[in-house]
Amino acid sequence: MLEDDNLNQTTLNEEENDGTLESMHHVNNPVLDLPKIEKKYLENVVSHNQNDKSYYFSDGKATVEIKIVTDEIVRVRLAPQGTFLEDFSYALAKKDHRVSIHQCKEEEDHYSVHTNTISCRINKEDFLISFSDRAGKLFNADQAPMHWEENPDFGGYYVYSTKIAFENEAFYGLGDKATKLNLRGKRLKNWNSDTYAFAYDQDPLYKTIPFYIGLKDGEAYGIFFDNTFKTYFDFAAEDQGKTSFWSEGGELQYYYIHGPHIIDVIRRYHTLTGTHYLPPLWAIGYHQCRWSYYPEANVRKVAEEFRKRQIPCDAIYLDIDYMDGYRCFTWNKQYFPNPKKMIADLANEGFKTVVMIDPGIKVDENYWVFREGKENRYFCRRGDDYFMEGFVWPGRCQFPDFTNPEVRQWWGTLYQGLVEDGVAGFWNDMNEPAVFGRGTFPDDVRHQYDGHRGSHRKAHNVYGMQMVRATYDGLKKLYKNKRPFTITRAAYAGTQRYSSVWTGDNLASWEHLKLGTLQLQRLSTSGMSFCGTDIGGFTGEPDGELFTRWMQFGVFSPFMRVHSAGDTRDREPWSFGEDWEKINKKFIELRYQLLPYIYTCFWEQTKYGYPILRPISMVEQHIPTNWQREEEFCFGDKILVSPVLQPGQKSKIVYLPAGDWFYYFNNAVYVGGKEHTIATPLDEMPLFIRGGSVIPEYPVMQYTGEKKVEELQLNIYFSEGVHRSYVYSDHGDTFAYEQDIYLEKCFTVSGLKDSLSIKQTRDGLFTERYEEYKLQLIGLPFRVKKVKTDGIDTKIQQDEQGRYWINVAREFDNILIEG
Ligand code: GLC
Repeated sequence: MLEDDNLNQTTLNEEENDGTLESMHHVNNPVLDLPKIEKKYLENVVSHNQNDKSYYFSDGKATVEIKIVTDEIVRVRLAPQGTFLEDFSYALAKKDHRVSIHQCKEEEDHYSVHTNTISCRINKEDFLISFSDRAGKLFNADQAPMHWEENPDFGGYYVYSTKIAFENEAFYGLGDKATKLNLRGKRLKNWNSDTYAFAYDQDPLYKTIPFYIGLKDGEAYGIFFDNTFKTYFDFAAEDQGKTSFWSEGGELQYYYIHGPHIIDVIRRYHTLTGTHYLPPLWAIGYHQCRWSYYPEANVRKVAEEFRKRQIPCDAIYLDIDYMDGYRCFTWNKQYFPNPKKMIADLANEGFKTVVMIDPGIKVDENYWVFREGKENRYFCRRGDDYFMEGFVWPGRCQFPDFTNPEVRQWWGTLYQGLVEDGVAGFWNDMNEPAVFGRGTFPDDVRHQYDGHRGSHRKAHNVYGMQMVRATYDGLKKLYKNKRPFTITRAAYAGTQRYSSVWTGDNLASWEHLKLGTLQLQRLSTSGMSFCGTDIGGFTGEPDGELFTRWMQFGVFSPFMRVHSAGDTRDREPWSFGEDWEKINKKFIELRYQLLPYIYTCFWEQTKYGYPILRPISMVEQHIPTNWQREEEFCFGDKILVSPVLQPGQKSKIVYLPAGDWFYYFNNAVYVGGKEHTIATPLDEMPLFIRGGSVIPEYPVMQYTGEKKVEELQLNIYFSEGVHRSYVYSDHGDTFAYEQDIYLEKCFTVSGLKDSLSIKQTRDGLFTERYEEYKLQLIGLPFRVKKVKTDGIDTKIQQDEQGRYWINVAREFDNILIEG
């Protein structure tokens, strides 16, 4: 840490480069007249040429490439000496995208390269680059020309880009940063770090997502700085008028991603870096974890309690103690004499077993994984060829070089035994990589980097990503056509293609509950929608109230898992006494009732790149007062929550975006576009459904797939106007959806003062197992006189609470309800 900070202040500080390197250089070379080491800036453009989708501009020495990636995405690269580095990226899902048209025009003082939607301007005189839409509206502009400084210690360059920070421009994104949502005024660093019990504003944390969104006058663009070295971002912190990003090595290479809607920026970022594959349905149920459930009798006991108390749960986790002396891919036979039998018994009760795998492999000649790794030279080595050795849980360890494809392939096969034992999911931890004492690997460790060799400076931030990639690819083969479930702590941009993530070792405090809501909104904004926190807080002891309020937030966390450290007291939904148990149960049940809605949100993420959690600044980006809102957020398109984040809170002010909103627990209607004070009794939370929505609901089940859904309940929330809702379904655990074996239903609900119509269209080849829908009509402003389904009179029933119910065949096209 100290080293970095010094470096940051001397060599890397944008404003105050005190020339330390320069003076050293002169001391060492008093007589030689070598070129000075100093920051160099692009000068005036003297030539340009084109090759396919790339336009090159040069100042006579340095070259800049402007590459058209899609109609809305442009990549900018800088080669200080005119030669680009090899074009390789771990972040990208695929390289080639469709572009309709692009061309370059030369004007008197600038060039402009444009596509159908955007225009990139390159000034001839000072090489400043800017981006506008085709109507000429400026979105993003250089404040200074791109610049660099030679790095005499490691070779290559420190590379810098400085943009104008416009007045009131807000900034979002950057992964798991534990700070306010709008990053304006912050300077942040990316260097994956094991940060046990991290604090508010601590930086860096576990993940590196060098992607941010700028929101200027209510219109958005994104910048993805695809550089795996230690990177820095300064959002008008050092200078009100500047936003800069820079790196200690690699290439100055970034993507400009056009909006103007934030959600479109994120979707386009996903077209570059990929989305999460559709998780198996069970992976989005409720999961129970701790460090650690052992021996076997304890695991069975926890499982039994869930079923006895009728609290739904889909997965139980085994932390490191299931292993033999923390040796990955082994069992501690004393604690787990017959793991296969235990896992099968749990599976019979509807529990999936998920186990931990760390990257550190114990140095032990009698341990097959170590021997194989050693014989095949799979472990990382230092600059002078020594093995990279460090202490982690098992003691002295060596570490596979996951940036080597051969090593990844091998790593993937190691899971075979555990998969055969019946393990359903894997949890990759400590992959920053974490090393006790010194934190992580030293910089001189070498990596194969898929043939683009580099030191740990280059590979550090992708190490965890490549580990979980190896895990995912291996599991995909071992599970045949079944979807794996993986979760990782460290990540780089693009990791969503291989895994879900959690926010690491948080604390059982109200502040951390709030931090969790910020981190998950931010991760979702940064391309990692499948994310969760350790519900209850990893370290420390929550009281019943904190635990329950966290559980409520957990229902609206894409990944929902309770986890806690080894020295904590019991942390099951019933551990805080009956009153709390009742509320926890109610909310876990709610998660299961909402599963078809939640699953649809995952589908929209997988297929279209929509983020699952949506901050209000994303939902209504044109309203300046929304840019700072942090506590309320949408889960998908139809649900808004504002978790209770303080002890003893009796009510809460909640902003609702424009439209009608139904309070979930009593269906009271609130008019949006303003703030409301909402009572927050312990067994409720501010939870609203957008008027006009169709929310599918499952009956409560103890685990996904426990019950056959006989008829799918669709809750229809009346609102005037036309609203569209989607409901997705498929097998729940295979990749058949990639061959169109799924069903995506679209409901168009049109509400008038005295009628409501519901139209259905269906897409895909999957057939549901139920025959009927059970429609619940909520909030009708009229008494129903007549209902017709596809022109035929249909029976409607009203219950004591005045709600209407209709049963219809699942393949209806049109229902008309008239008053
Ligand atoms: C790390 C993980 C934590 C886990 C522990 C033991 O601290 O972040 O989730 O329980 O290691 O494996």
